[in-house]
Amino acid sequence: MNILVTGGAGYIGSHTCVSLIESGHTVTVMDNLCNSKVETIDKIELITGKKVTFYNIDVTNESEVDRIFSKHDFDAIIHFAGLKSVGESVSKPLDYYYNNLLGTIVVCRVSLKYGVKRFVFSSSATVYGDNESPFVETMKLLPAANPYGETKAMCERILMDMVKANSGYSVTLLRYFNPIGAHESGLIGELPNGIPNNLMPYITQVAKGKLEKLKIFGNDYPTADGTGVRDYIHVMDLAEGHVVAVEKMKDGLQIYNLGTGKGTSVLQLVNVFEEVNGIRVPYEITDRRPGDIAECYADAGKAESELGWKARQTIRDMVRDSWRFEQNL
Ligand code: NAD
Ligand code: WQD
Repeated sequence: MNILVTGGAGYIGSHTCVSLIESGHTVTVMDNLCNSKVETIDKIELITGKKVTFYNIDVTNESEVDRIFSKHDFDAIIHFAGLKSVGESVSKPLDYYYNNLLGTIVVCRVSLKYGVKRFVFSSSATVYGDNESPFVETMKLLPAANPYGETKAMCERILMDMVKANSGYSVTLLRYFNPIGAHESGLIGELPNGIPNNLMPYITQVAKGKLEKLKIFGNDYPTADGTGVRDYIHVMDLAEGHVVAVEKMKDGLQIYNLGTGKGTSVLQLVNVFEEVNGIRVPYEITDRRPGDIAECYADAGKAESELGWKARQTIRDMVRDSWRFEQNL
C-alpha cells in the first residue's frame, strides 16, 4: 500500500515507518518537525535502505495538505501528528485543542475529498480515565484528567461521526498504552524536548548522568509495592500493531487496545533497568503527581483475536533498547 504517515518523524511514527517499509509498503511522511528532527527521516532510510518521501508541512494547513494529496495516490493514512505533553496541555490548552483537533479534521476532510478510505488514528489509554484496569474497548469512557487526553477523546468522537456519515470508509482507533524502547539499531528512539515528563526517558537521562536523580511519584498507591503500575509496550511491537491494523482494515469503525496486558510498577521498571544494563539509577520517593492513577493496563485480547497481533518483547528488551538509544545520543 501507499501510506501517508502524518507525524512520521516522531517517536512512534518513525518506528512505524520502518515496520511499514519492511512489510513492503511505501511511505510518505508529513511532519512540521515541531517535536522531531529531519535527521530521523535519514535514519529510517538508513535502517530500511528505502527512500521516504518527506514533506515539512503543518497538518492544520488545509491547502498544503490538499496539495500533497493531489500529487499522490494514497491507499491509507496513519495519523500520528499531534502534541502529546500532558503538563503543557494544562498550561496551553488552546494550543492542544487547536493543533490536535484541527489537524485531525483537516486530514479527514482532505482524505474524504480524495477518496482515501482507510484512516488509522493514534489514540491513547488516557481516554479510559480512571476506570478500573484492565481497560477493555467496550468500557464507557470517563473524562480525561487533562486537555491532552480530552483532545484524544474528542478526536475519537469526530472520527466516529465521520465514519457513520460516509459509508465505505474504514476508521481504526488504536489506543496505545505506555510505549518505551527503541529500534534495535539504536538509530531511532524517543527524543524528548527539555526535561522529560515520561518515566523511561527520565530514567535513561539519570543513568547517563544528565539528570541527578529520578523522582518516583508516590509509593502509597494500592499496588504491590505502592508505586504506579503501567502497561509498558515496546515501540517496535506497537509499530507492528499499526502494520497489521492498516492491512486488516474493515468497513466502519474498529477500536483496539495496543498494550501487553501486563502491569509493571515504577520500582520494578527501575530494578530491571539497573539489572539488565548494569548501571545505577539513583531515585527518591516524592509526592504523587496530580492526575496520575494507580494502575493502567490493557485487556489486549481483542487485538489478538481479531488482528492476530500480540506484543512479543519483554520489559528486559525494552530497557535494553531504551538504554542503547540513549547511549548513542
Ligand atoms: P512525537 O511528538 O514524537 O510525534 C508526533 C509528531 O507529530 C512529531 O514529529 C511532531 O513534529 C508532529 N506534529 C505535531 N503537530 C503537528 C502538526 N500540526 N503538523 C505536522 N506535524 C505535527 O509523539 P509520539 O510519542 O510519536 O506520539 C505519536 C502520536 O501517538 C501522538 O498523536 C500521541 O498523542 C499519540 N500517543 C502517544 C503516546 C506516547 O506515550 N508516546 C501514547 C498514546 C498516544
Ligand atoms: C509512568 C509512571 C508515573 C515520571 C503518559 C500520558 C498518557 C500517554 C503515555 C500519550 C507513572 C511514574 C513518571 C517520573 C515517576 N501518552 N513517573 N517519575 O503518566 O502513565 O502516561 O504517557 O497518550 O496519556 O499521561 O506515563 O511515563 O509519565 O508515567 O514516578 O519522573 O511513572 O507516576 O506511574 P503516564 P509516564
